[in-house]
Amino acid sequence: MKTIDESVLFEQIADEIAEKGWFVTDNFIDEALLKGLISEASAYWEEGEFNKAGIGTGTQLQFRPEIRTDKIHWLDEDRLTPLQQQYWDRIDQLRETLNRTLYLSARSFEAHFAVYPEGSFYKKHLDQHQEVQHRLITCILYLNSDWTDEDGGKLRMYHHPDNDEEFTEIMPVMGRFVCFRSDQVVHEVLPAGRERFSLTGWLRRESLL
Ligand code: OGA
Ligand code: MN
Repeated sequence: MKTIDESVLFEQIADEIAEKGWFVTDNFIDEALLKGLISEASAYWEEGEFNKAGIGTGTQLQFRPEIRTDKIHWLDEDRLTPLQQQYWDRIDQLRETLNRTLYLSARSFEAHFAVYPEGSFYKKHLDQHQEVQHRLITCILYLNSDWTDEDGGKLRMYHHPDNDEEFTEIMPVMGRFVCFRSDQVVHEVLPAGRERFSLTGWLRRESLL
């Protein structure tokens, strides 16, 4: 796997986000970093270091297994491993490009590893919370080797918030990176046929409240 010229890639991401709200590539990070992140995610999983994921934030956080059944491990920005730091740095470059070209004001990044155990899903939703609109851009890196169509677990992105008929589906294959506008792209995770790993994060502005 080869990463293409960085500035070209970042400008392309910005163009496509401006045009249609989302972007997908299989060349966001190099293979060594990808494999390292996969090992870290598996190690946290094997050590039982994942928690139930909720919906909402702060005092509004709720556990709603009819909506979402994945498990998550938040990364601590003050205690990133060298590999996590490399990923953070790459996202920072993306953040700068998006701020400059799309006039976003993203100031920080938050991220967690996620596991969807067999049968898990996340129903149709928007990532920007209603209470505090911190989240601007969702960035997801998939960590699953040999994922096939039969394994399900696709990310379905709806082209319009109120129309269920038109959508694009993305298979969560190893190294695939998807980013989209957290305030506009309604999406869901279809039931996973086997354990499905990802590193999911959000470019954030400071609280509007
Ligand atoms: C999320 C989410 C999508 C995916 O965590 O908010 O929608 O494909 N994840 O994992
Ligand atoms: Mn989401």
